[in-house]
Parts: sequence; structure tokens; C-alpha cells
Amino acid sequence: MKIVNIAAELAPIAKVGGLGDVVGGLSSALIKEGQDVEVILPKYLNLNTKLLKDFKVYKRNFKIFEKRRWHSNTRYSARLISVKIYLIEDKKNYFAKPKIYGYKSDVNRFLYFCKAALEFLKSEGELIDILHLHDWHTAAIATFYKKIYSLEKKLKVKKIVLSIHNLKYQGHCKPKDIDNLGFDGRSLLKDDLLKDPFRPRTLNLLKGGFIFADKIIPVSENYAKEILSKENSYGLFKIVNKTKKKIKGIINGIDTIYWSAKTDKFIKYKYFEEQPLKKIIDAKKNNKKVLQKYLNLEEADKPLVCCIGRLVEQKGPDLIKHAILRSIKLNAQFVLLGAIFNKKIGRSFYNLQKALKGNKNIAIRFEHNEKLAHMLFAATDFVLVPSLFEPCGLTQMIGFRYGSIPIVRKTGGLADTVFDLDDKKILANKKNGFTFEKFSTSALDSAFTRAINFWYKNPNKCRSVMKKNMSLNFSWKKSANKYLKTYKNLLK
Ligand code: GLC
Repeated sequence: MKIVNIAAELAPIAKVGGLGDVVGGLSSALIKEGQDVEVILPKYLNLNTKLLKDFKVYKRNFKIFEKRRWHSNTRYSARLISVKIYLIEDKKNYFAKPKIYGYKSDVNRFLYFCKAALEFLKSEGELIDILHLHDWHTAAIATFYKKIYSLEKKLKVKKIVLSIHNLKYQGHCKPKDIDNLGFDGRSLLKDDLLKDPFRPRTLNLLKGGFIFADKIIPVSENYAKEILSKENSYGLFKIVNKTKKKIKGIINGIDTIYWSAKTDKFIKYKYFEEQPLKKIIDAKKNNKKVLQKYLNLEEADKPLVCCIGRLVEQKGPDLIKHAILRSIKLNAQFVLLGAIFNKKIGRSFYNLQKALKGNKNIAIRFEHNEKLAHMLFAATDFVLVPSLFEPCGLTQMIGFRYGSIPIVRKTGGLADTVFDLDDKKILANKKNGFTFEKFSTSALDSAFTRAINFWYKNPNKCRSVMKKNMSLNFSWKKSANKYLKTYKNLLK
């Protein structure tokens, strides 16, 4: 089966968040299942091309029409481990920028990319079984294909799949932005087409994805249910419910080779699930000591809580701050590793960092740092994920794999993967963490306190849960097979 993924991110060469991990992980897992998979990606300025093999110019001077002019582009081809990738470099400087997102021109940048990717596929002339799109950045491809390219009959795509990693971001533009590509934007400004439900003169690109994709895949089963509600559909309530039959949640996997305490090159003391409990706990303790030195924390035997992720509203910044303060009271250590994307949230965390300066039990780092992330997973006892909403969430799964215990808010994919150790309604062998339901500091407090008390008062049980969590299977193989089954059903 020929599968083409078109996305804004691909880990580890171009990653902001989990989207990049998923495009990379899913593609290589599908290749292992014998499929022919490629990924098309913009050629960003800071792409880590050192990680690529056979990186070369594939086609020069590839012309795309935009804003009444033809623009020249270069296509590169390369391999990322086993995944075939194509990079589109525009001469307009849409992508030759230091960041992947965060520009006023983001919508125009990705619209241009959508057209360029379609033109590229058209020029290749290959029959594509599954065109797999991800989030709003590439959702417009579904609209352009069904409304324009499929009619021209020069590009043949059998089915289009759209993964929803985050429904909140939808991509809004004016009809003029579509006209700029040489298409007819006004014709899409209709209630049953891309007209935004709240802004009558605006087009909504993700809405187009729901209408024109053949299958919609939210990244967990629970998120697939949640987006049907008014509250979680972010204005797309009507269209999400109208296209309900096309929606099917599939939980993400994690890259179990990249995230493996047995082979992790960033950690000093390696360990693995088949080892006796004591060996695992000793290795984790030693990794904790390394980390404490590295971050200048007190070298004490205390419970360690880590929170790793982008510091955006979705991740519950106020609850994270609250947990940091709470951990001081409960005699625990806390490390926060997260990049800042928003001035207001940034300011409040900078203030907290300043106020806690000199506190030897708290470390706060505002960055995306792969090495430190690995060191944290290997050292930590608990992984905190207090999200407002979380389509899937990867850190709780990586946390399991490194023998730690998640403390999470029961939402989205977190509710599909974490089961409370104190919940009598849950089967004993399923229990693996601590959860809370309400998005409030008091709900967080109760789960957080139960977790820290568990570490202090019930150390043997705590350790055996840590070991057991290492054996949970969230590998991509399992999830990729679910995708494959979905693709096959679509092609029937
Ligand atoms: C987004 C979601 C996150 C998910 C990831 C990968 O970043 O916020 O929950 O795990 O995409 O699908």
C-alpha cells in the first residue's frame, strides 16, 4: 500500500510537540509492517539535516503559482532511518525561518505548502492509496484534492485520512488567501463548506478536513468521544457531529527504541524490565543522583516529580505551578522542563522561578531539551500531566516505559492510559497511576498528595508498580496495526 503522510512536523528533524513524534513513529512502524510510506515536509531553516541519509536535490526550479506570480521551489529527497522523505524548499522564504510556527503568515505558509505538496504528487504521477494529513496545517489538502485535483484527474488518491492531534487549532483564512493560490476562495464560503461557524467572512481549514477527508482519526479513543461535545469541539460541534460516522479514535504509540532505558545513550545507569526489582530501583536511584548533581538539586532520597511539555494553556500551567509549590510542602523534589510560547504564561513562570531561586528541591528549565528529558524520565518517580485537555499525551506513556508513575488529569488519552491505584472500581492489574477529574487545584492536590504519600508510606508497593509499569505495551507496532486495519477497510 502506498501511504503518503503530509505534515508540518517530523521528529527528530523538525519537532515542536507530539505531532512530530507521531508522524515519525507511525511512518516507521508502517514500513516495518511492509508498507510503502513517505513523508512530505517543508524544508525549514533549522532542519537537522545531519540526521538524514542520502540527502540530495530531487528537483530544482519547481514552479508554484501564488499571488499572481510563479515561484520557484526546490525539492529534496532523503531518508530518515527507513522513512522516505521529501522536503519542499520555497524561494519565498515562507519556511526558511528559525521557528516552525508562530508567524503572522502561518496560514499562508501552510496553504502554500499544501498546494506545493499536491503539485509535487501530481508531477510524480504515482497512484496513492492513502493520503494521510495531520491537523489544520495540511487539512486544506483534503479540500483542494476533492474540489480541484481529483477533477483534473492527473493525481489519483484513493482515500484521504486526517489525524486530529489538536482540534483547538483550526487555521482560519480569508477567501482571498485561497484565491492567491489560483483557486476560488469565495466558492468555499458556504455553511456546508468551509465557512467558519462564527465568522461569516472567514474560512476554516480544519472544518474542510472534516468535510472532505474519508476518515478522521483523533489520537485516542476517548478524545474521539470528547470532541463530540460542545465544550471540546471548539466551535466545530455541528460538523464534528455531522461527520461522526467517519470518526474513529486510535491511540498513539511511542518509539520504544528511542525511549528505552536499556539502550538510552543519554542516561548513565541503564535498566530494563526483565531485571529484578532491586536492580531497576537502584539504577533509577543512581540516575536520580546524576540528575540532582546536573541540576544542582539537593542530593537526597526524596520522591521526584517531573513535568515535561510545552507550557501552553492546554497543559494546565496554573496547576503545574500549584504542584511545584505543593511539592515543597510534601518534601518532594520537582523538575519542570518546558518551552514557553506565550508571554503571559512565560512571565508567571519566570516570576515563580525567581521566587524559588536557591530552593534546592526545585528546578525549572524553559527549553526543549531532548537529553534532559531522557535523564528526567530515567530518574523520576512520578510524571505529572495536569492537562486541561489532552488528545493523547505521550509523556505518561514514556513515563511508564522508564518505570515511573503518572499523576494525570482524567481527560483525552490520559483517561485511556492511566488508571488510579486507589480506585476500587478498577481491576488491580490495570492500576498504574494517580488521576483526578476536576480541573482545579484542590482536585490536583488530592491526587498529588496521595502519590507522594504512596512513595513515603508504601515504598514496596510503589516500587512494584514502577516495575510493572515498564511492561505496559504502548509500542507503535500495536497502534500502527490499528491504522493499517483502518486503511484497509477504507480501500475495500
Ligand atoms: C498534540 C496533542 C497531544 C498528542 C500529540 C500527538 O501535541 O496535544 O496530546 O499526544 O499531539 O498526537
